[in-house]
Amino acid sequence: MYFGVDYHPEHWTYPYAGTKENPEARWERDVELMVRANVNAVRMGEFAWGLYEPEEGKYDFAWMRRAMDLMHKNGIKVVLGTPTAAPPLWLTRKHPEILPRDQNGDLLHPGTRHAYCLNSDLYWNFSQKIVTSTAKALGDHPSLIAWQIHNGIGGIHNEMSFNEETEKDWHGWLKQKYETIGNLNDCMGSRFWGQTVTDWSEVPMPMRSPESHNPALVLDWMRFSSDTIVAYIKMQTDVLHEITPNAPVTTNLRPLTRNFDHFDVADVIDFVSVDNNPTIESRTAEAACEIDMMRSLKKDDIKTPNGEEGFWVIEQKAGQVNWEDVNALVRPGVVRLFHYQLVSRGANGVFYFFWRQPRFGSEKFYGGVLSHHGRADNRVYEEVSRIGEEMQRLGPMLKGTKVVSECAILYSHDNDWTLQLPMQPTRLFNLRKHIQLFHSAFHDRNLPVEFARPIDDLSKYKLIVAPSLHQLSVGEADRLKLYVQNGGTLIGTFNTGMVDEHHIVPDTGMPGNLTDLFGLEVEEFDPLPQGQENHLNFKGSFHVSNLHPARLWCDVIKPNGCETLAVYAKDFYAGKPAITMNEYGLGKAIYVGTQSSQEFYYDLITWARGVCNLFPLLKVPDTVEVSMRSSEERNIYFLLNHQNSPVRLQFYKPTHDFLSGETITGKYDLPPHGVLVVDEKIR
Ligand code: GLA
Repeated sequence: MYFGVDYHPEHWTYPYAGTKENPEARWERDVELMVRANVNAVRMGEFAWGLYEPEEGKYDFAWMRRAMDLMHKNGIKVVLGTPTAAPPLWLTRKHPEILPRDQNGDLLHPGTRHAYCLNSDLYWNFSQKIVTSTAKALGDHPSLIAWQIHNGIGGIHNEMSFNEETEKDWHGWLKQKYETIGNLNDCMGSRFWGQTVTDWSEVPMPMRSPESHNPALVLDWMRFSSDTIVAYIKMQTDVLHEITPNAPVTTNLRPLTRNFDHFDVADVIDFVSVDNNPTIESRTAEAACEIDMMRSLKKDDIKTPNGEEGFWVIEQKAGQVNWEDVNALVRPGVVRLFHYQLVSRGANGVFYFFWRQPRFGSEKFYGGVLSHHGRADNRVYEEVSRIGEEMQRLGPMLKGTKVVSECAILYSHDNDWTLQLPMQPTRLFNLRKHIQLFHSAFHDRNLPVEFARPIDDLSKYKLIVAPSLHQLSVGEADRLKLYVQNGGTLIGTFNTGMVDEHHIVPDTGMPGNLTDLFGLEVEEFDPLPQGQENHLNFKGSFHVSNLHPARLWCDVIKPNGCETLAVYAKDFYAGKPAITMNEYGLGKAIYVGTQSSQEFYYDLITWARGVCNLFPLLKVPDTVEVSMRSSEERNIYFLLNHQNSPVRLQFYKPTHDFLSGETITGKYDLPPHGVLVVDEKIR
């Protein structure tokens, strides 16, 4: 288990710290405080290009080597960032052609990080050069355990720049995909509004235009931009693998929010690491959903420095952020609670961002483990030190354990990007919120769940939910059928199979290519205005706790062999099916033709649990979050109280708590924001 911090030694030299005579004196105190807090790893150097190479071709890596020496002397491992997220000013002054242009064609100027275009060959060459030089200069250091490529790649739109070089690459990408202009016109349906092209050079980039661009073209643009980013990361990975074959490579990702296919990126790195920013207002279930997304990005071929599976959180917030309207303090105990939420859901390394709040720059009021004064008599340092001490005790118990899930939620970036395009049937639909309704039901009903793509091998799951796969390729539809055919249970929903991978609507009925799987056809669909509702009347086996509404969207369904589980209560489709189930091969395909309230999804998942013979991890009060990491030897349960008040638990047999080392029996009050890590089942 790595317990780390994100350290910027370059912020802590004279005149900001240290003395004139000994400019780096503060580093020693920092390391001393890190050791006292049980920190065993640091990430450094992710923005240091301008300091490594102050003039073109003139390098200075000695200062970083000194920082690494100090870490090594004190038993702290180092993850080095490649510094390409912040090109030096001399580079952009000399070669302004590497700068990005926005959707209006306007140049984005240097003077901050991320001022480059990832389609610039020149930028690639300079990146390759600095990565090679850094790896050659520092890669042999005994403290080095891993590399983080770049920083926050794909987090801002300018990386999908609209300059001439990008246009050239875009046309090359299209040529490779479509081979002939005729094929491109056919697949994109470019005759709509008479936008056919006769030459590759005519294909536009989706720049600011009077009306919306062809959605098929915009979708390809997203894929092209993603491929560019993946190739750029791979270029750096290859350089690092060549020079330092024993140091695994990662990059800091986010929960599916950046402008690339996160699964594709995960394929070209050795292990996944992420930034995690739950704020004081985050709902537990939302934070848990994001963590499950991040854990799911790479399930095979994981190579971490200590051989453990799972993922790392390479930037975990230590205090308040600086990008909200009001950046509230994170309350005492909450940082620790977030930490356990990460570890309980599979994290094997957590690094706090920042080690110390910088005294200058744009992020000077971003929370840190230490505040500006750098003293140890600070609430956050105390809380983080306590976590460090607990991790030292818990680490050996967690070795070899991982989160196992028999349920999955399907997600594809292609689908997500498609649903972000304009001219949807309803602007009120939000894929992330739809996914959250399902994830919260799994989370609150204590069933572990992970994310998978429709094209993945789905055979290991007992229950799969596929929320609104609006864009579904024939290959993906076949995968879903194969899964159910072989005995799986699938829950599909409205807004599925509306377009194929070319963004063309099927002419065989909806949901495209799945009418046989669900045993029905969606004849029409009725998006409901805000505030309007229909209702669901349930029949047969489906037990409900409440009257459930039908909101946002109602599919008008013609059954064709399926069983009806619920019908609409009113409007011209009153009495017609809203929720159905179809036997298909050895499995079952359930279709939910509308969106309902959270309570409905609780009932749905509880019912599906029975259908699939799945059991909740533990039975605990609703406000307690439960997760489990397991190995062949043991199951370790984490119980987290996300409330501001104590929660009473009942232990019917003696239970070992790893954190306190005590045995618990009978009634136990889990304190506000309290955590239990136990190895026995409680009922
Ligand atoms: C990202 C970056 C950091 C910092 C934080 C602030 O995750 O990697 O450098 O800017 O955001 O939230």
